[in-house]
This record gives sequence, C-alpha cells and structure tokens, in this order.
Amino acid sequence: MSDTSVQARSQWSSSFGFIIACVGSAVGLGNIWKFPYIAYENGGGAFVIIYLLAIAVVGFPIIVAEMVLGRHAKLNSFGTFKKLSQNNIFWKAVGLMCIFSATAILSFYSVVAGWTLDYFWNSLVGNFSDMTFATSGPRFGEFVGNGTKQIIYHTIFMFMTAFIILRGTKGIEKAVKILMPMLGVLVLFISGVSFYNYGASDTFNFMFSFDFSTITQHGVLEAVGHAFFTLSLGLGCMIVYGSYLPKDVSLVRAGIWITILDTLIAVMACFMMYPIIFGTKMEVNESAAILFTTLSAQFNSLPGGNIIAALFYLLVAFAALSSTISLLEPLVSFIDETYNIPRKKGTIIGALLIWVIGIFCALGNGASEFFTNIALMDKLDYLTSNWTLPVGGMLISLFAGFFVSREAVKAEFTEIELANFYPIWNFFIRYISPLFVFIVILYKLGVF
Ligand code: TRP
Repeated sequence: MSDTSVQARSQWSSSFGFIIACVGSAVGLGNIWKFPYIAYENGGGAFVIIYLLAIAVVGFPIIVAEMVLGRHAKLNSFGTFKKLSQNNIFWKAVGLMCIFSATAILSFYSVVAGWTLDYFWNSLVGNFSDMTFATSGPRFGEFVGNGTKQIIYHTIFMFMTAFIILRGTKGIEKAVKILMPMLGVLVLFISGVSFYNYGASDTFNFMFSFDFSTITQHGVLEAVGHAFFTLSLGLGCMIVYGSYLPKDVSLVRAGIWITILDTLIAVMACFMMYPIIFGTKMEVNESAAILFTTLSAQFNSLPGGNIIAALFYLLVAFAALSSTISLLEPLVSFIDETYNIPRKKGTIIGALLIWVIGIFCALGNGASEFFTNIALMDKLDYLTSNWTLPVGGMLISLFAGFFVSREAVKAEFTEIELANFYPIWNFFIRYISPLFVFIVILYKLGVF
C-alpha cells in the first residue's frame, strides 16, 4: 500500500456522519429480529442483565479497540493485522478469519433482510388485510418455503448493498442519516401502540424479573455471542469504519453513542412484541419469526394498519441495509487493498460470492429438501455468533492491548481521555475483556 493510496481513502464527512454510520451498522436485524426472540426464549430479565454485562465488559472496550486499530492502520481488518504485526503469520490468519466471518454473516443476513421486503410490499398493497394471529405463522412458513421468492428477495437485497458500497462512504452516510432517526421514532410509536392495546404489566414482569435460576449455560453463551453480533464486533467491521475516520473525532464518544443507541433499540424492540405475545396469549412456536408473525398480525388491528406495517418493514429493511453494507465493506476493502483490484470490480466479486452462498441459505427453510437438511443459515449463524466473533473479538482485544505500541494506541485518544479513560480501558482490553471471553469459550468447549 503506497502513501498516495492511503491519502486517497475516502473519509466520513463529519463526526456525526461517522457515528450514525456505526449506529446504522450496529442497529439491524440483530436488534429487531434476533434480540426479542432470544431474550424471549431465555426467559427475559435475567438474560437481559447478562447481555448488558457482556455489552459493558466486552462490547464497549472492544468497539473502542477496533476503532483505534482501524484509524491507526488505515486499512481493512486483514490489512490492519498484517501491517501492525509486521506480517506475522498468526495475526494474518486472524485477519482472514475476520473476512470469513463477514462473508458468512452477510450470506444469511441478506436472506432474512429480504423477508422484510416481502412483508413491506404485501402490507402496502393490502395483501395482509385478513392476517390474524392464527394465520400469520402458516403464512410465514409458506413464504420461506417458496424458493423463487427467497432467491428474488435475497438478490434484490444484495444488489442494493453492492450499489451503495460502490459509492463508498458518501452513499452510506446519506442513507443512514435519514433512516435511523425515522426507525427510532417508529419503534417508539409501535411500542406505545402495543402497550396501549395489550397492557404493559406482563411485559414488565417478564423484562424486570431477575430470576437467574432460569438461565441456562446456553443462555449465557448466547448473551455473549449476541453482544458481539449486535455491536458489529469481532470481524473488524469497526476497524474498517474507523479507518475512514478523520483524526479529530473522539472514539470514546462514538463508542458510547453506538453502544447506548444499539441497546436502546434492542430493548424497545422487545417492548413492541412482548405485549402482543402476552396480551393475546398466542403460542410462539417459531419464535425466530416473531418479527414477521406477531407484528404483522397486530398491524391489522390498527386503523391504517397496512400503511404503518409497510412503513415499519421498510424501515427495518433500511436498518438491515445499513448493516449489510457494513458487512460487505470489509470484504470489498480486503479485495481492493490486498489484491489491488479496483473498488468497482472488488464489489462485484465480493457481492457475487456472498450472493451464491446466500442462495444455499435461502433454499434451506423448506424450499429444497437437500438444503433444508443442511440448514446452512443456522450453521453459519451458530458458527459466527458463537465462535468466530467471540474468538475474533478476544484476539482483537489482545492485539490492541499487547501487540500494538502504546504510543500508537495513545495517539488515538484525546488528552482528557488519556487521563480519565485510557488507564481503565487499557486494563479492560488487556485483562478483563479477553479473560471474560476466554472463560466463555472454555465453557463452550465443555472444560467446566
Ligand atoms: N450488528 C448488526 C445487527 O445487529 C449486524 C452486523 C453488521 C454485524 N455488521 C456486523 C454483526 C459485523 C457482526 C459483525 O443486525
């Protein structure tokens, strides 16, 4: 990488532009689709506490670490490890694992993101006007079993992602600045409607009952894995985003904003759905589908429900889009910076690769017996959330804590932060965060 190309890297236009792009990356299907159902399956309150603990102990320190590394190296995640480790083979392998995670996650993520387009469209044209709580489940099953539709929506989604990526940071920023605030308002509104229609007490009892005896080993692991997933950590997504960041932006402030807004949206998403589940005493068999089943049925009870539904799924689609672009960017900048392939060509290569793997995921929910048996979507989700993201995060933490020179790291903090924040962060990033993840990994391996 020559100096001129370093200077030619695109940059975020402002601190706000950067923060909102990171929030866009963090807030996505993880918050609105995944978190409500895993919190539901794991019994609510106590799970949420463990999740919040993971966010504070590993999430926040590592998000700052990734941005520190990225802004210092000004490269993609593989390039960052390569450059800062002086070509060390181990760290280069870690960099490759990061690129693998991004590719794997985007392959299934794009399929689920495509579902929101179908629900947007059918709500808008009124096809869901007779949807009830009883019919919403079968409708969902039928939809994900329809191979043609699955492939079409996945293709549209990958296409949109690639299109924005072609335009670099400018495209990302523009889209996210408008859409994220809109999503926030709508989530708040729908939570209000849910509470109004179905009451709040059961939901509050569920979310604020801290019965830790209900927590299983699986629940703890899921909480930690999800902390990585929801904050877009463990694969260098924030390394890449940080690499486009001007020097004068405070990384600590950015990290705080991203963490708080991401957590808020996840909890609000539960408040949208749980009142309905408890209020209607509906059976939630396929809890992974509650974003589509539970909510789409509730919209019908509202005046103008199809319009609200359409707007809602559209905004979820945008939240997903601002996440998918952050998943494609690491791969594209890797191809670009490692093989010197121009951005345009790199985008096409990267998007095509993910599109093909995504098709295997898309056909695995009933459309094809063969792919359904393989269940690639579940496997990739499990492999990344439970293994490659936490392991990647632990190694990123150690790398930033021990292998990069202290001067280089310190240079990424402001003077006030150096006095107030740096010593604690340094302690966490060296000892607490990696140890926490390491214990979780040992736990997963069945060591104790
Ligand atoms: N955080 C996003 C979500 O919650 C998904 C995502 C985007 C992601 N970039 C990532 C997950 C990088 C892990 C790593 O929907």
